[in-house]
Amino acid sequence: MGRLEGLTALVTGAASGFGEGIVRAFAAEGAAVVVADIAADGAKRVADSLCETGAKAAPFETDVTDPASLEAAVAFCDAQFGGLTTLVANAGVGQRPLAVADTEVETLRRQFEVNSVGVFQSCKAALPALRRGTNASILITVSGIALVPRPQLYGYGMSKAAAAYLMKSLALELAPEKIRVNGLFPAVGDTPMLAEFAGGERTDSAVEAFTSALPLGRLITADDVGQAAVFLSSPAEAGAMTGCALPVDAGRCL
Ligand SMILES: NC(=O)c1ccc[n+]([C@@H]2O[C@H](COP(=O)([O-])OP(=O)(O)OC[C@H]3O[C@@H](n4cnc5c(N)ncnc54)[C@H](O)[C@@H]3O)[C@@H](O)[C@H]2O)c1
Repeated sequence: MGRLEGLTALVTGAASGFGEGIVRAFAAEGAAVVVADIAADGAKRVADSLCETGAKAAPFETDVTDPASLEAAVAFCDAQFGGLTTLVANAGVGQRPLAVADTEVETLRRQFEVNSVGVFQSCKAALPALRRGTNASILITVSGIALVPRPQLYGYGMSKAAAAYLMKSLALELAPEKIRVNGLFPAVGDTPMLAEFAGGERTDSAVEAFTSALPLGRLITADDVGQAAVFLSSPAEAGAMTGCALPVDAGRCL
């Protein structure tokens, strides 16, 4: 029996990178998953490959900046799998490093729109369905940058710090209803987002610099994040954990 048997998860940003790792790990542990992403083709590719293995998976095109689109994703989850127990608010956008003098306010606004307001709206849209289920939980993919700042990533870092606040505040609000809210705080991963942090292109020298900055000397993989997400979403394993900021960071935040 899988560790997430009986759970039904909506995972945003699941067409790529960490989100893809999360839906693959969830499906392997018996959860039904809605692969939600603004990239419809990518979501279909991931869901199709999961269905081929016999997993319960379905794609859904969702924009986390649009509340109506999120409500439709929750209704789709209900219709496909008979409810929603687990929201993973993972969708996010990265940015290129820029000094404060060169950072446009529009860059900050875009980061906040997706990485903080988008997460807030995902939680808000999912809550009515989560309240109807048992063993409900929310997991937010934040970032190690919300724990230990880095220079020149003002929009990204500030928006992730806001998501960290939301995670803890919501954990307190929902605790009386036994709905757990936790956060994953990864360090740099070798996903498409790495190119943004590297200034626009994934080069060998950038990968080497990011890798050597991590104490364990390895980047974070989609599977690393997927396995941590399984643990925090499992009522049997993490039933006492809420408001937890779990670094998945090869030691970066020490
Ligand atoms: N890669 C890293 O180094 C790193 C480190 C720490 C945290 N994170 C966080 O992990 C999460 C996943 O990032 P990733 O590295 O897998 O990047 P990624 O670019 O591979 O995946 C992000 C996914 O989010 C989707 N997305 C973007 N905007 C969206 C929107 N408005 N609505 C719905 N979907 C949207 C994209 O289409 C993409 O599939 C993000 O929240 C990111 O900030 C990444």
